[in-house]
Amino acid sequence: MKIDVLTIFPEFFDAVFDFGIIRRARASGIVEINVHDIREYAVDKHKMVDDRPFGGGDGMVMKPEPIFAAIENLVGTTEREAYPTGMRIVLLTPQGRPFKQDLAQEFAGNGKHIVLICGRYEGIDERVNEVLVTDEISIGDYVLSGGEPAAIVIADSIVRLLPNALGSDTSAENDSFSQGMLDCPHYTRPADFKGFSVPEVLLNGNHAEIKKWRYSKALEKTRLMRRDLLKTQNGES
Ligand code: 6GU
Repeated sequence: MKIDVLTIFPEFFDAVFDFGIIRRARASGIVEINVHDIREYAVDKHKMVDDRPFGGGDGMVMKPEPIFAAIENLVGTTEREAYPTGMRIVLLTPQGRPFKQDLAQEFAGNGKHIVLICGRYEGIDERVNEVLVTDEISIGDYVLSGGEPAAIVIADSIVRLLPNALGSDTSAENDSFSQGMLDCPHYTRPADFKGFSVPEVLLNGNHAEIKKWRYSKALEKTRLMRRDLLKTQNGES
């Protein structure tokens, strides 16, 4: 899997891909992540990446040419029909399709090369979306100053699902959302901490009981915090 990030703030990503699961996945060749400065693809001598909006209005709009040039360089074509299989050109904007675990799973399963384009300013020239982009994605119903934090969120959620990215003692199968529910609570030693105790069932070694308890706690938590997950995924209300 290869992930390329297109941004006008490459330094934003300096440390974030160098820790934990992502660092290990990069080091062992499970994923290659590269961050590219859109400004390096600017076509004019002032290295302009944005301009005033046609029709007037506030703010600046990211110009199409540098992004087209970057995609041409990274993918070898700007014809969507000519993209290799597994190629996803993702535009990060608040107008996009909401990003959920099922999409992370699809990217991890079927994606081979993912380009994350970070929008900035008041927007990106819509021709980028019309011509180049395969997926316009938002990470939630709030506005970020740019797509950079969203690119980190998306890269992280995909990489941890790649085969062998998690250690053999961990698994993404029990993660929140992977079964349409939130995760159950977890405890570790000490069994009694300042009088706050760990649920007895976790201490008795009865694995069938523990499994039942975890399921019922996950369901209870999901009902309490995210009723919407149960309605949409299990037909329950
Ligand atoms: Cl992907 N970008 C921006 N700028 N804001 C967002 C977002 C993305 N997702 C939620 N809010």
